[in-house]
Amino acid sequence: MRRLQEEITAFYNELYAGERKVLVFGDGDERARIMMIGEAPGEQEVLLGRPFVGKAGKNLDDFLELSGLDRRALYITNTVKFRPSRISAAGRTVNRPPSWEEIQLGLPWLLKEIELIEPEIIVTLGNVPLKALLGKDQTIGQCHGQWIHWKGTRVYPLYHPASVIYNPALKEVYRSDVMRLGEEVRMSRD
Ligand code: URA
Repeated sequence: MRRLQEEITAFYNELYAGERKVLVFGDGDERARIMMIGEAPGEQEVLLGRPFVGKAGKNLDDFLELSGLDRRALYITNTVKFRPSRISAAGRTVNRPPSWEEIQLGLPWLLKEIELIEPEIIVTLGNVPLKALLGKDQTIGQCHGQWIHWKGTRVYPLYHPASVIYNPALKEVYRSDVMRLGEEVRMSRD
């Protein structure tokens, strides 16, 4: 994994020479059965150097707790390893969704990361990792909470934990999807 991280760093250093992009790599148990994949790090993640440690991470932790899944038993990473940002009208640096080109640039590295972790289950969080792995036509609204067979692994798409912050109506759906994930993980282990 270390070697892969060095290769990714060298790739982006060359591609974005002079921009000093801070990369945030995956975190957690590298022998985990479950790999969670988010979109891209935000401000807090860049500050602390770990995925899902900001507001969305707190939301994710709350849902994981409900489902009985322990975050320490997972491996969590992002599709895009740097923070996509723009300058707001007020002059602040704010997050923006990664572009399709940024997603495509990150995809070969993500696939190598998946090969190293060899997860039984991949949980995608939101549209970005879903579309990156399964194609642009897939949408989280249609795929969430369904098991999809992909390259010898099972993919379980979940809404992005931040979407619940912006759209509280999703909370119940999210809760039930996460609970079913927890049940399936327990059943397939026993
Ligand atoms: N949202 C993501 O998709 N990833 C993070 O690491 C943090 C927020």
